[in-house]
Amino acid sequence: MIAPSAGDLYAADLASVATAQHLRFFPAAPVSGRGALLTEVDGRELVDLSGSWGAAGVGYAHPNVVEAVSDAVGRMAGASLLSSTNPEALALAEDLRALVPEIEDSRVYLGHAGSDANAAALRSVRAASDRPRLISFEGSYHGGLGPAQHVSGIYVSSGIAGADGLTLVPYLDLDRVAEELAHNDVAAVLVEPILSDGGVVIPEHGALRQLSDLCHAHSTLLVVDEVKVGLGRTGFLHAFRADGAVPDIVTFGKGLGGGLPLSAAIGPAQVMNAATSSSLLTTAGNPVCAAAGRAVLRTLAEESLPDRASVLGHWLTGRLGTLRKGRPEVLAVRSLGLVGGIELIDAKTTAKVAYRAWELGAVVYYVGPGSNVLELTPPLVISEDELARGLDIIDTAIADVADGAVDDAVVAPYQGW
Ligand SMILES: Cc1ncc(COP(=O)(O)O)c(C=O)c1O
Repeated sequence: MIAPSAGDLYAADLASVATAQHLRFFPAAPVSGRGALLTEVDGRELVDLSGSWGAAGVGYAHPNVVEAVSDAVGRMAGASLLSSTNPEALALAEDLRALVPEIEDSRVYLGHAGSDANAAALRSVRAASDRPRLISFEGSYHGGLGPAQHVSGIYVSSGIAGADGLTLVPYLDLDRVAEELAHNDVAAVLVEPILSDGGVVIPEHGALRQLSDLCHAHSTLLVVDEVKVGLGRTGFLHAFRADGAVPDIVTFGKGLGGGLPLSAAIGPAQVMNAATSSSLLTTAGNPVCAAAGRAVLRTLAEESLPDRASVLGHWLTGRLGTLRKGRPEVLAVRSLGLVGGIELIDAKTTAKVAYRAWELGAVVYYVGPGSNVLELTPPLVISEDELARGLDIIDTAIADVADGAVDDAVVAPYQGW
């Protein structure tokens, strides 16, 4: 049998995988990955500057994760946390409580994805509070399904029903938040510490802290969604610590599982225990994903990955500055740690740059209300050389697209974000 090419694999995907879960930018079809590199079937290597939208925080196939998962799957202490406990899930819950000492007498919900962690947090908030309202921000993304989708500014602004009592406010418009909180009827404010899918918007220093002060002054719970930029990516273990904000509830996902489905919501017992049996997913808290999560947390500490993100982040900030010079297609660049945004002149150019970068050997996707911001969330273990190679590729891709290297028809099949 002739081995399939990357193109064959991609075509086969179209014949079998529902587009309901497609968010495609180019026909990538890697067959293996290690660290920050993905490899296609013919051996072509791609530097992954997205890290699977941040899910590959510790990189692909990290040896600690491989070992922990292999061990746990060989023992399988049950496959669910619903009606029995298991040592891996219990230890992960304990690790997570210790990771967020800001929350006193905390309890942990373990889930599969950022979406269900946020949904479970919201259900608990609703049960614990008699206040009817919620606030989230325009351009925010808290999940692609269920209750988390209904508080995501991106979806609600595009016509999906908002949650009952939801008010959307421009991102970190503190005057507006103060006005809304003054009614003393808001149960919770949900915030991303960096507005990621909304265009990689990094708040001014102190804004999150002020938001947290406002919430506490009005006895409103502050839910900080660390799903994308948490766990070391900003150079801080928690992004909310960049300016000393104090959350009431924190949610994690993506990188927490080392590539496996795993998420968590951590909040005070009085909230997280207010709605018994309200968020039930049979295999959530299974020992295999929990073991992966413990290995990830251990790796973050052992390899000082937050510090590494900070050091590489300084380099990235400098490189993004040079990328901008002399390129009218680049409107703005933003970064903090290993979160970066490159705002380009329009959506069509951005789609072509992402496509061209893939042709040249880098994976980068775009976000933002105008679909014109390349988002960088590479694995925190990326080497300096790989990061430099990835940025060089983006630089070349921008120049190539300006020279007309990618036809409209080539990107037309990919709906992008
Ligand atoms: C900030 C944030 N929260 C929640 C989610 C949802 O996570 P998941 O796709 O794992 O459900 C995402 C996904 O992009 C996100 O960026």
